[in-house]
Amino acid sequence: MSRQGPRSKNEPIVIIGAGVFGLSTALELKTRGYSQVTILDRYLPPVPDGSSVDISRIIRVEYADPLYAKMARESHKGWLRGYKDHYHESGFVMLFDKAKGNEYVQKSREVSRALGQEITEYPNRDALACAYPGIQVNFEGLEALGNPHGGWADAAGAIRQLSAQCSEAGVSFLTGPRGRVTSLRYKDKRVVGVNVAEGSPIPASQVILSTGAWSNTLVNLSHTSSASGQPVGFIQLTDGEAKQLEKMPVIINLSTGIFCFPPTPGTKILKVARHGYGYATRMKAENTSDLVSSPKRDSNNAENAYLPEDADAALREGLRQLVPQFANHPWMTRRLCWYSDTPEGDFVIDHHPEIDGLFLATGGAGHAFKFLPVLGQYILDCFENKASDDIRRKWRFRSPVESSPGLKKGDGSRGGPPLRVLSAQEQAKL
Ligand SMILES: *[C@@H]1O[C@H](CO)[C@@H](O)[C@H](O)[C@H]1NC(C)=O
Ligand SMILES: *[C@@H]1O[C@H](CO)[C@@H](O)[C@H](O)[C@H]1NC(C)=O
Ligand SMILES: *[C@@H]1O[C@H](CO)[C@@H](O)[C@H](O)[C@H]1NC(C)=O
Repeated sequence: MSRQGPRSKNEPIVIIGAGVFGLSTALELKTRGYSQVTILDRYLPPVPDGSSVDISRIIRVEYADPLYAKMARESHKGWLRGYKDHYHESGFVMLFDKAKGNEYVQKSREVSRALGQEITEYPNRDALACAYPGIQVNFEGLEALGNPHGGWADAAGAIRQLSAQCSEAGVSFLTGPRGRVTSLRYKDKRVVGVNVAEGSPIPASQVILSTGAWSNTLVNLSHTSSASGQPVGFIQLTDGEAKQLEKMPVIINLSTGIFCFPPTPGTKILKVARHGYGYATRMKAENTSDLVSSPKRDSNNAENAYLPEDADAALREGLRQLVPQFANHPWMTRRLCWYSDTPEGDFVIDHHPEIDGLFLATGGAGHAFKFLPVLGQYILDCFENKASDDIRRKWRFRSPVESSPGLKKGDGSRGGPPLRVLSAQEQAKL
């Protein structure tokens, strides 16, 4: 096993992927004195079809896992300090079936208590409506818990700020065909750079793979991280309509996985999505005859607004349950948001155990964005082999024997139907 860090801070480091993993890593590399840092991506950040973009991401501290609960609290402070222009403390409410209970919430409650905080309980509809006037959720048979200090972040806005910070710190960016990585370049068992869609290869003494849902097209890691498309829909509201939802929190129904954000100030867009098991594709990957689940590499996956019919129906049903007054409004646009799922929802942040010169920072599993203010520090501690044994073990690159293929269920916070592989006809419409 190699698991080496970089040998010197003056060697060229190439980061593939300008999402939250890649950008936060780049900024922290510069902060720690690495001189040559280049980020490659197909598009300029905010990358239009990345999972670090669009109008909103949930910011919550409730976690069933003590490490993420602690990180989320550090990160929440970071949002309030360095990224406050993009953070909206609307409140965050989790609903679930009262009769069945919810293990994730139960554990989150214990973890919060251990950290000296109580999750707020809303015993009935009136209590919820009192905290969040205007809310029209059908509360029957449900239990509601939440946090008035949770909320949402403008994802594209925060990524724009982070990219500007990278640029000012001296990070180089390559985008378009020069930034579209087609394969890694190897010399013996070492990665020595990348091949790109146009022009000569780009050499590197360390390559950092932060390609999220696209990762398994470049390296064989489909046993430990695989792409799933999660449906998202956007509705344009009028001034008057947006006013009705002004005090609305971010609400998630953990039984269905459907969640809804308050309308964005200014643009008044209502967003609904599902934090579920998603949809898989079957794509040809580099260096193998295996088919892997991945979004398209050569064009923008957010462009044509296609959603499978069952996904569209689930979002509509979610609207009827969460914001019934707008359930029949037409979509402004829709898309699949591409998660990179892992067996237990743990990130993959590790030196590749067999390939020298390759470090992985991926596997966001649909919950990494909220860590934007602190993620780079955690990644660099792993890169420099300084992280605690617990963290390194949690985010290690698992070997195929440790991970049973196909079971990437996340951390227990998902709801709704199991993962479904898209038919060839559906995939052709992506
Ligand atoms: C993968 O394929 C590329 C060409 O597409 C080749 O240059 C490279 O050596 C291959 N890598 C491995 C590990 O087989
Ligand atoms: C990719 O990894 C899997 C184990 O996860 C293995 O079964 C498969 O043979 C590998 N494919 C290639 C081309 O190395
Ligand atoms: C939440 O999901 C459950 C289970 O599908 C459903 O019965 C209930 O109506 C939903 N409620 C809301 C408010 O979303």
